[in-house]
Amino acid sequence: MAFELIGSRRRYGDGAGRQAAAGTPAIDVSHMTKDFGARTAVADVSFSVARGEVFGFLGPNGAGKTTIVRTLGTLMAPTSGSATVAGIPLTPENGVEIRRRISIMPESPGLYLRLSVTENLECFADLYEAPDPNDRIALALQAVNLADRASDACGSLSKGLRQRVALARALLSDPEVLFLDEPTAGLDPVAAHDVHELIAALGRSGVTIFLTTHRLEEAERLCDRVAILNTTLRTIGRPEELREQLFAKTLTVRTLVPLSQPGGVFAGLPAIDSWRQEGPAAYLLAVSEPPGRWWRPAPTCCRSASRTTRSRTSTSS
Ligand SMILES: Nc1ncnc2c1ncn2[C@@H]1O[C@H](COP(=O)(O)OP(=O)(O)O)[C@@H](O)[C@H]1O
Ligand SMILES: [Mg+2]
Repeated sequence: MAFELIGSRRRYGDGAGRQAAAGTPAIDVSHMTKDFGARTAVADVSFSVARGEVFGFLGPNGAGKTTIVRTLGTLMAPTSGSATVAGIPLTPENGVEIRRRISIMPESPGLYLRLSVTENLECFADLYEAPDPNDRIALALQAVNLADRASDACGSLSKGLRQRVALARALLSDPEVLFLDEPTAGLDPVAAHDVHELIAALGRSGVTIFLTTHRLEEAERLCDRVAILNTTLRTIGRPEELREQLFAKTLTVRTLVPLSQPGGVFAGLPAIDSWRQEGPAAYLLAVSEPPGRWWRPAPTCCRSASRTTRSRTSTSS
């Protein structure tokens, strides 16, 4: 498949330099904070991304996702804290060296709309000083399935196709670490699905991917691990672990009087995995299906108040 052609670093990269950093994490961040004047965008964030990992940063608008991408991408300096990117310490002196090894696909593609797809890519291949630009462009176009639109003006392409051109551009430099900042924001479900397929294929090719999103299902579908950010880092884990933590389905049942034998009442109900006493007349039930699918009128003693507490921490659209 075309995707496998991308990520063939031995062919394009400087093997020795990349090998030297092979034992280190792709990204390592320690206590990073970024303030904009009095506003703290990112506070005391620490995490590490292994080489070849697809790592997601999930958080609502304003959570600090783009700030992290721009900081790790050497576009602005952190206020405090330290990091290594592609094995190289994030310092002003190392900016060029880091930028040689990474690519950023920003939230808005920023293409030259009057130029064709190929002309856009030529322009950026030139800036990247790609040694064999025509080969690189052909591979990048194949990787995002855009070879047949190569001579179309970018301004004539749909938003989804422009996003694919931006992805092709990010691949031109054969990056070790690829930052994708909300790669499917504003795309319709079909276009988003196409971009998901491309990212999944890139992930399989071995490139380290750092992806930001505000969609849980996107993080879940694409990422090996996900960090949840809202200025501070709330948690990190594998998607299934986070779903278990964040989407635990519970039902709190309050009764007028304490039940004499709560175990006898709850243990016999279908879809209740476990229960525990939360107060003198309150019981927390862990349920394995949405209550609507099995709930029957409760005995009179249980009817006073009940509510579901299906906790969600992310916005999904
Ligand atoms: N250049 C900037 N100057 C001032 N404030 C900024 C700047 N960039 C981002 N911010 C603020 O930092 C916070 C985080 O923004 P951002 O990183 O863009 O969040 P996200 O990408 O998660 O939506 C927001 O409150 C935003 O207004
Ligand atoms: Mg953003």
